Amino acid sequence: MRAVVVVAAGSGTRLGFGVPKAFVPVAGRRMLERALEPLFTLAEPTFVVVVAPVERLDECRALVADVAGPAVGHTAVVPGGPDRHASVEAGLAALPDSVASVLVHDAARCLTPADQVERVFQAVRTTGAGVVPALPVTDTVKRVDVLGPDDGAVVVETVDRAALVGVQTPQGFPLEALRAAYASAARSETDDAGVFQAAGGVVHVVAGDADAFKITTAWDLRRAEAVVADRGADRRPSDSPGPGLPAGVPVAARVGLGVDVHAFDAAVPCRVGLLAFPDEPGLAGHSDGDAVAHAVCDALLSAAGLGDIGGRFGTDDPRYAGASGTVFLQGTVALLAEAGWVPTSVSVQVIGNRPRIGARREEMQDALAAVVGVPVAVSGTTTDGLGFTGRGEGLAAIATALVHRATGADTVHTAAVD
Ligand code: CTP
Ligand code: MG
Repeated sequence: MRAVVVVAAGSGTRLGFGVPKAFVPVAGRRMLERALEPLFTLAEPTFVVVVAPVERLDECRALVADVAGPAVGHTAVVPGGPDRHASVEAGLAALPDSVASVLVHDAARCLTPADQVERVFQAVRTTGAGVVPALPVTDTVKRVDVLGPDDGAVVVETVDRAALVGVQTPQGFPLEALRAAYASAARSETDDAGVFQAAGGVVHVVAGDADAFKITTAWDLRRAEAVVADRGADRRPSDSPGPGLPAGVPVAARVGLGVDVHAFDAAVPCRVGLLAFPDEPGLAGHSDGDAVAHAVCDALLSAAGLGDIGGRFGTDDPRYAGASGTVFLQGTVALLAEAGWVPTSVSVQVIGNRPRIGARREEMQDALAAVVGVPVAVSGTTTDGLGFTGRGEGLAAIATALVHRATGADTVHTAAVD
């Protein structure tokens, strides 16, 4: 039996998304999903331990079960520690004793191809030693003398780069020897091969892959999205575009539609499109009856395949009694973000005799855009005296929304709006 420990318990401070890095989407799928997927395409059965942030264990178990499918019995999810060293130890401790060779892999190297994983396993088998995948260093490398924290550095000499490589993961080892090395490690090394070598182990090098780079910064995330786009074949059946949406079609952008109607109720204040209309009759409803905000929510939710406002926020949920349109819109944008979608643009038409939108159209557009985070176009119409709107019984609104898959830049933007 062989195994891979995938460490995914880091916080992703340098990426700065405010969510653990392994759960940040790369072109619509969380990093950890992408890191795990190739492991379940290996020909030989492989036990996979995922080391997850302690507060994300349930989400991680669901994610692993989803990616592993019928191989879920070959998986385990354990909580990580305060640093990578501790997380690796937690992963090693969770391995069945029948495991002979183990690979330790960073979830943050989520585009590592399956053949790199296989190459490392094979080399551990043939050498019986430690194995790292590595790439030649292509930049000219210089040794420098650091003058001080604020004083820069001067070059001492050019280092012969023929003798240098950049090291990636997964790194492979005989399990017992790696456990022993970790047990005796006096200090934290920067990688597992460092720990192994410090304990006297020999480490061999096999070819790495440019796609196995580690996502550390927002720039790396952008680069990873470009790699995914270049691969083109990123539309496997398991690449679900999200609940309620058909698989196997491009998932870059989706359009949605929402309609809402409320009857006038002169006893309540009038709020339409997030604006107060003090001289107008209000709209009846469990919430504040803002048909414009609700239609926009429905358009966004339907575009992302997330159902509708009633299903998501509960029309009789006491938490939403009298709730403003802002509450529903913020909740909707958050639900989209969780599912990896971001609004692109919205338009909404107000249908009714009153309140008159014209004079306050721009103000309404600005108010809606401030919450949704993208432009919202507002228009108004009457129905020529026909129907319930024509008779002045109520107000209707119809909205369309375009949404797209979240990217790093989007998430930063959404956080800024919040
Ligand atoms: N890792 C871990 N447990 C930790 C710290 C790191 O499992 N306590 C994992 C990360 O999830 C990542 C890998 O080790 O897959 C490499 O670490 P790094 O790229 O530094 O990720 P983070 O620690 O999450 O990022 P940062 O240092 O920017 O906070
Ligand atoms: Mg780190």
